[in-house]
Parts: sequence; C-alpha cells; structure tokens
Amino acid sequence: MTQQRLPADAPPLATIAGIGDFEGQQVTLRGWLFNLRSSGKLAFPQLRDGTGIIQGVAMRKDLGDELFEALTHLGQESSLVLTGLVSADARAPGGYELKISSVQILQCAEGYPIGPKEHGTDFLHNHRHLWLRSRRQQAIMRIRHLSVQAIRNYFDSRGYMLMDSPIFTPNACEGTSTLFETEYFGKPAYLTQSGQLYQEAGALAFGKTYCFGPTFRAEKSGTRRHLTEFWMVEPEIAFADLEDIMDTAEDFMVECVQYVLEHGRQHLVELERDISKLEAVQKPFPRISYDEACRMLAELGEPVEPDDDFGSPHETVLTQQFDRPIMVYGYPTAVKAFYMKENPENPARVLGVDVLAPEGYGEVIGGGQREDSLDVLLHKIQEHKLPQEYFEWFLDLRRYGTVPHGGFGMGLERFVTWVCGIHHIRETIPFPRTISRLTP
Ligand code: 4AD
Ligand code: MG
Repeated sequence: MTQQRLPADAPPLATIAGIGDFEGQQVTLRGWLFNLRSSGKLAFPQLRDGTGIIQGVAMRKDLGDELFEALTHLGQESSLVLTGLVSADARAPGGYELKISSVQILQCAEGYPIGPKEHGTDFLHNHRHLWLRSRRQQAIMRIRHLSVQAIRNYFDSRGYMLMDSPIFTPNACEGTSTLFETEYFGKPAYLTQSGQLYQEAGALAFGKTYCFGPTFRAEKSGTRRHLTEFWMVEPEIAFADLEDIMDTAEDFMVECVQYVLEHGRQHLVELERDISKLEAVQKPFPRISYDEACRMLAELGEPVEPDDDFGSPHETVLTQQFDRPIMVYGYPTAVKAFYMKENPENPARVLGVDVLAPEGYGEVIGGGQREDSLDVLLHKIQEHKLPQEYFEWFLDLRRYGTVPHGGFGMGLERFVTWVCGIHHIRETIPFPRTISRLTP
C-alpha cells in the first residue's frame, strides 16, 4: 500500500518515531500489531512500524461491533492501517497515544512463533527473519546502521576514496587455513579474507583509499567472536608508518563511538548498555608493546607461550585492566601475516598493531605498516609457501614507486558487539553465517 492509494481525504501518513510533530492532529499509521489488551468496550492495540511502538486506544462505539471484534481477535504481527488522533500522554510508552477512529486490516496473522516467553538461541536463529522484528534486535540493527554511517563519514570527510576490493581472488591474504575455496571456470579461487592487498594498490594510486565490504573466513570453531562472513572496513594510507596508523586507528575509533553515542543513545538504552563505558572511549589509548603485554599477562596469571599469538583469554584479561581500548603493537613476526613489515631494530617483531576493546571484548582492529621492500617481500612469500605467480601484481607495487605505507581493518560486527555490550557476535549481523549456520 502506498501513500497514493490512501483515500484522498485520509489523514497524513506519519511514522511512530516522528509522531510528535502531529500532536493534536489526525494521522494514518501503517504497521504490525505488537500487542493487544481489550475489554468488552475498549481495546489497547500496540502498533509497531519499524521506527517505534505506539499504544492505540479503540472504542467499540467508535469502530462498530464488527470491526471492534475483528481488531480484538487479531494475532501478533497482523498488518494494519490505523487512523486516529495523536495525543500526548506522559504515561504512554513513547509519550504519545493514538485515539483510533478507523482500522483497516491488511492481514490477520495467526500463531506468530515468537512470543514474550523465553526462546532458545537455536529457535530464535532459525526464525531470524522474524526475530529481526523484536525490540532488542531492532536496537542492535540500528546501532549497526549508525556504525556504518560513522565509518563512512570518517573516511569520506578526510579525503579517503572508496575503492572496492574484489570478492573472488586467487590470493590468500590472511593465511591459508581459513580460505573458502570455490571453482572459478575450472580453476580454484577463494572468497576474499581481506581487501587489503588491493587497497595497497589503491593507496599507491590515490594516496588514501578504503574498502568496506564482506569478507570470508572458514573459521572452523564456533566462538562468540567469529563469523564466517563478516564486514570489514579497511583504510590504506601511502607515506605512513606504524605511528601514523596507530594515530589514525585511535582517532577513527573515538569518532565512531562518539557518533553512535550521539545518534543512537535510545537504542543503547534499549539494550541496557552502560553508556559511561562508551563515554570513556577518549584519546589517548594506551600503547603497549607485545613484550610488555606478555609481562603483564604473566603477572595476571594468564601467561603467553614464548612468541605465541594472544588467544581470547589473554585479550580478555588484558583489556579488563583498562577503561578504554588499548593498542598492542610489535607482535612476533612468526605469528603474523607475510605482508607485515619487520621492525628494523628487531626482526623478530613486526610493525603491526591490534586495537583491543575494553570490558573483555578484545581485538576489533588489526593492521600496521606493510613490508615495502621487494626483496624482503619475495623472501616472505616463499617462506609462507604462497604461490608467487599470483602475487606478481602485488610485487609490482614494490617495483614501481614503493613507499612506506600501512593501514588497518576493523571488523564491523566486532565493533557493534562491543558498542552494544552484547555477548555474541552473531546478533550483530542480519543473517549470521557460522560453522553451524547457513540458514535462513
Ligand atoms: O586482524 P585481521 O585478520 O587483519 C586483516 O585482515 C588485515 N588484512 C586488515 C588490514 O590491515 N587491512 O582482521 C581484521 C579485523 C579483526 O581485527 C576483527 O575485527 C575482524 O577483522 N575479524 C573478524 N570478525 C568476525 N569474524 C571473524 N572470523 C573475523 N576475523 C577477523
Ligand atoms: Mg588480527
């Protein structure tokens, strides 16, 4: 039903979020029945329209027996058009009430599977297409949307050019153990793990670029931090060293969190997020070397094997010590990707950085300075047993005008999980993909 098809004399269309502009006026609202209480003469249907929920008041004497009966027998999520008078009411959720003068029933839904009672996680995920209508899921999706806006605004307003990286690729960027292989006209191809290598071409062509798209990793374990399909934003900057990358990551993260706070406070309140924790996300973030972090972890009773990567328990314990994100840099060369630049003063450490979110959330950003020497990179490709012929184009970037450069990748869903303060990453993407889930 479109606006044009409302009767010519119908009151103007409104949304529940914008209802305050219509106080004292007749409006038309379109949506779905969220809840309904009724007595013989009076009914209180709650309508949701995707922007909010409003309570309506309908009287038998205004609607007539037949329509009143039909309304009071509607099931949850029936679709309907209501017209009525908007009146301010401090007791009503949202502050307004609709005194209903007419009802048009579009569909009478019966047996909606998601009720107010507790449902199991699997049940809810099997009904994800409907679960998205619930208040909590709507709040999370709104925060996701605002996060995307914040991310784009950040880079667009600072001269970065959006340059999309391909999804099909012959290159492994983040190691060969999490590649999704597919057949590409008789040859193997992979779904991209990261758009970074192509952004390096972008940075050397345009100075500063970013990509923001889906990336794929065949994560074989189901953790609360891993999806097999997730969205990553990846800026890449020419003439930048590790210090520049840390400055950018820090500035970016502060601005994104503050943007969500400014524009999405009501959604965070819906999620019962402790907002003071997000308000604390201010510069400077502590910058801690890997070796220093290892010493701290040993003292905290969560020691790291020599030259090993951090696992979730390490990140959890470490981040619980701080009220804001921290930046851990200088990880062991042996555990990091082939493209990371070795520290010239200590080749066993790379000029890479991870930004770890507080409250135990852990890694949200990974990045750093890239290896810009052709010879070292060639050696690294061999060491990592990567097929050199598929990296020839990447090596060209070192043959023709190589410069110090770097960038980072932030996983959108990791960011949203932390900002929302929720337990599991799978609620932050509309239709999650994990080792055990491909539907709906
Ligand atoms: O640390 P990662 O593997 O770094 C890269 O991919 C670089 N090439 C990025 C770059 O420098 N342009 O991944 C970056 C971020 C992680 O910090 C995390 O937020 C997210 O991507 N991430 C995942 N998010 C959800 N599920 C997964 N399986 C993820 N793996 C990584
Ligand atoms: Mg990482």
